Parts: sequence; structure tokens; C-alpha cells
Amino acid sequence: MTTWATTTWALYGVGGAVLATSLVKLRRRFDLSQAKHRSLAGHARIARRIAAFLPFYEYDETRFFASDGAPANVAARRRAGFGRLSALYKTRFAETIRRTAETAESISDLQFTDAYRVPFQYRRYVQANLPSAVFMQSSEGVTVTDLDGNRFYDVSGSYGVNVLGYNFYKGAIERGAARVRELGPVLGPYHPLIIENVELLKEISGLDEVSFHMSGTEAVMQAVRLARYHTRRSHLVRFCGAYHGWWGDVQPGIGNPVPAHETYTLAEMSGDTLRVIASRRNIACVLVNPLQALHPNASAPSDSALVDSSRRAHFDKDAYAEWLRRLREICSAHNIALIFDEVFVGFRLAQGGAQDYFGVRADLVTYGKTLGGGLPIGAVCGRAALMRRFRDERPADICFARGTFNSHPYVMAAMNEFLRYLRTSEGQATYRDLDAIWNERASLLNERLRNEALPVEVANLSSIWTVCYTQPSRYNWMLQYYLRAGGLALSWVGTGRLIFSLDYTEADFAAVADRFVAAARAMRSDGWWWRNPATTNKSIRRTILKEIIARRLFS
Ligand SMILES: Cc1ncc(COP(=O)(O)O)c(C=O)c1O
Repeated sequence: MTTWATTTWALYGVGGAVLATSLVKLRRRFDLSQAKHRSLAGHARIARRIAAFLPFYEYDETRFFASDGAPANVAARRRAGFGRLSALYKTRFAETIRRTAETAESISDLQFTDAYRVPFQYRRYVQANLPSAVFMQSSEGVTVTDLDGNRFYDVSGSYGVNVLGYNFYKGAIERGAARVRELGPVLGPYHPLIIENVELLKEISGLDEVSFHMSGTEAVMQAVRLARYHTRRSHLVRFCGAYHGWWGDVQPGIGNPVPAHETYTLAEMSGDTLRVIASRRNIACVLVNPLQALHPNASAPSDSALVDSSRRAHFDKDAYAEWLRRLREICSAHNIALIFDEVFVGFRLAQGGAQDYFGVRADLVTYGKTLGGGLPIGAVCGRAALMRRFRDERPADICFARGTFNSHPYVMAAMNEFLRYLRTSEGQATYRDLDAIWNERASLLNERLRNEALPVEVANLSSIWTVCYTQPSRYNWMLQYYLRAGGLALSWVGTGRLIFSLDYTEADFAAVADRFVAAARAMRSDGWWWRNPATTNKSIRRTILKEIIARRLFS
């Protein structure tokens, strides 16, 4: 063969190899796109771009009451109802509102939560007329009392921390503090009661080791870091919509000023996702937040995103358990760490947490919230091989994780009270028939709402509830204000999430249900759910899109 011919064949060879590699890459890229959820939450990069494009605009007073094209008489009913509600707020919650307004300028978190209670077009008018009132002076049983002496049923659940009831945590903090008072806030050395915490957590999680942190966010950071360290791989898989705290790598979309390059956000409960997990060599861990079982692939529901009535939720325990089993198999087969982030659901669904509840074991589990017995906490439990932070054979190759306040004696003591209580017969009884109780309560409330033809229903994962709306409307977010006027304390995400503590008695719940139905009735009679039969969720979104485009083009 001539040199020319050899060179030609060599070039063909190289070209072929390059083409094959490109095709494989293309194929993998295609598989990855297939495994993304179709929603914006499934496309972090696009969501960030759209967020940067979205302009602020707001409705004037006339449009505020008729943004859905309601006729003048309906708008007038709304205006009158809104006026009554506003007057009630400004008299009944006067002192609490005054203090909130005074403080808001100095607390950035308060400014943020205050701004994100309703869709932004309505924000300022709502803020001016239904001002936030965030202070509370006391809690008792399932109620909290504001600075004006108004008592509310608490359905905020303190972001999920309140599982056993406020009275329990007050006691746990006090008793715990008494037990560690002699040592006080000495950090570094441990108080001996940590030993029992570790034993109990190992027993509950079924895992070998424990590390303590100061928040759920930190616990997740540590679990992911350990997985990366031990697998020597870079990427984490999180599922569309799932919240895992505010660390950048688990929040690759809106909310994080920089992109997360080593995170795959994939669709949950999807065969395409399983294929991607099985085929990529760079995946260190798969992070699951079992709370998503209530609304797979949807972000945490908040009333500020309640622009129409498309919020949906439905919990199917068997289907989710089957999904977790399939994930478990794939992760085991490919040496990927399966992490259950139980910061929210741990100790709420079952004593043994989501692992027990769904019957699937994880390699690492994060806990937080209620585990601290009412004080701040994050914890990671894991298999010994994954928890180690150094390698004997490579002394400089470590996985660093420390924290000044980790294992704080007062936190450990309140935690100890919490964990010990779980072992008592009373503690165990708390979890008996839990799902049956809360499913029954949800279906009773739904029946009442249906009987009165109110366009609202609740969906629940045990004691974690979300409110959904059954006919297209632009004003569903108003319900949170009627609920508060009716004596229910919600968190800043409004009707997106109601969280009950497990000390709610039948009588307590009946009172909540009465107030809920009465609030929905009042909202309807004030005209907010008037509806043009031609309106659909899609047409609502189309209207908003047109407004946004017009704003971008003409302002
Ligand atoms: C599942 C999950 N992981 C992590 C976190 C973050 O916990 P923290 O707010 O304590 O940092 C949360 C908080 O809501 C959570 O729900």
C-alpha cells in the first residue's frame, strides 16, 4: 500500500471513531433530555433564563378586582368583600401588623416572605390592604396567639418541625436544658447523652454511623459530599421539583444566582430517568425527598405561584414505593449512593421514617427539623463505608466537614428527650393508625366542600396537606386571607401546604374543618370564584403571557 492510501485509511479510521464518539455523545445527550420533566421546574437553565426575562408589572385597582374579565357587579362584590376583610385585618390584628411593618425594613427574610404570598401582579395592593402580621406571643396545644390576643389553630406546623405538638417541644427543651445545665454551652467535647442519641438514631435508621449538623441544608450537603468522595464521581441526581434546602447544588434553577454544573435534575417516577442513571458513569448519588410522593415533579406548592387552578396533588403509596424499589435496584447495581432526604418527612410518617413507611432502605439518610426536639438540627445517618471522612492509605485525601455548633449540648439534650419519647408507649401510640386518621379527616373535609359545591379540595400525605382548586380561577390565593380571618394560622406559602401536628384531636380538627368551610363560603359569596364558563387554566396562562410580552415590548 502506498503512503497516500495508508494515510487515507487512517483518516477514515479517525473520522469514523470521531463520528462514533459524537453519535454516542449525541445519544447520551438525547437520553438526558428525555429524562427531564417537561415542566419548567425540570429545566433549570431555561427556568433561570425566563426568570431573568420576566418583568414586574402590577394591576391597578380596577383590574385587581376584574383581572379575569368579571362584570362590574362581581367586581363590586369583590371590592366590598376585600374592604371588609381589610378592615377586619386592620382592627383585629392591629398591633401585630404595626410591629411587623416596623420590623420588616430590617429583616430581609421578612421582606422576602412578605413579597411572595400572592402572584406578583396583585402583590402591592394586597400588601397595602391585607398587611402581614408575623408575630406570635404564645402557643398552647395546637394553637398560637398573636400580639393582639387572637388565638389561631396552627396549620403551619412550623415548617414541619411540629410533629408532636408545641407543648411537647417546650417540655423537651426545658427538661433537656436542665440535664445539660452543668456542662452548659461547651463545644468540642460531648455531653454523654449524645451516646444514647447515636444509638437510637442507628436503631431508627438501620444504619451504622451518625453525624450531626446545624440544619437540614447542611446535612444534605454532607451526605452528597460523602457520596462524591467515596464514589469518586461528580454528579448528583435530584428530582424535578424536590426541595433539599438552599445549598446551590440542590437548587440549580430559580433562586440560585449561579448554575449548578454537577447536578442532573431528572423526572421522578420515570423509566427514562432510570436509564440515564444506569448509563452515566459520573453519578455519585441519587437524592430523594419522599415528600414529593404527594406531587411528583412539582415544586413545593406556594400561593405566590397560584396563577390559575392547575395545582394538582395525589398520593399513591404503592406507586411511590415501587418507584423507590426500582431506584434502589439501579443504585445498587451501579454503585451509586441512594440518599433519602427525610428532613421533612422523617418521624412524621412513621417512627422509622420514610424507609420504614415505604419499605425501602437507603445508603444515607438525612434528618432534621423535629429531630432537634424543637431546636435547630441536621443529621446524616449512613453506612460506615460511606460515612468515613478520610482514607487510611491517602492521609491528605479527606472529606472535610466540621461545624462550630455541631453536637451542641442543649440541642443534643432536646433531641434526647424527643428520641426517648418515641420509645415510650405513648410515643408509639402517636403513630398508630396515622394514615387512616389523616386520610379520614381529609376525606371528611372534602365531602363537606363537595356538598356545598365549593371549588376547593385537599390532598394529603398523612398529616401534610395541600389545597387544590377544582375550577379555573385567578383568585384562589385569596383563600389564605379568609382562612386567617377565620382563625387559621398558615405559613407564608399559604394554602400550598398545611401541616398538622399529631396532637390534633377530633375536636380540634372539627374546629379547623368548620373554619375552613366557612372561609371558603365567605370567599365564594364575595364573588372571587365567579367564572366565565369559557375560562380554562390554559386561557388564564395565555392572558398572563400576553401581559408579560406586552410589558417587555412596550415599557
Ligand atoms: C427535604 C428537606 N431537605 C432539606 C431541608 C433544609 O432544611 P433546613 O431548612 O433545616 O436547612 C428542608 C427544609 O424544608 C427539607 O424539607
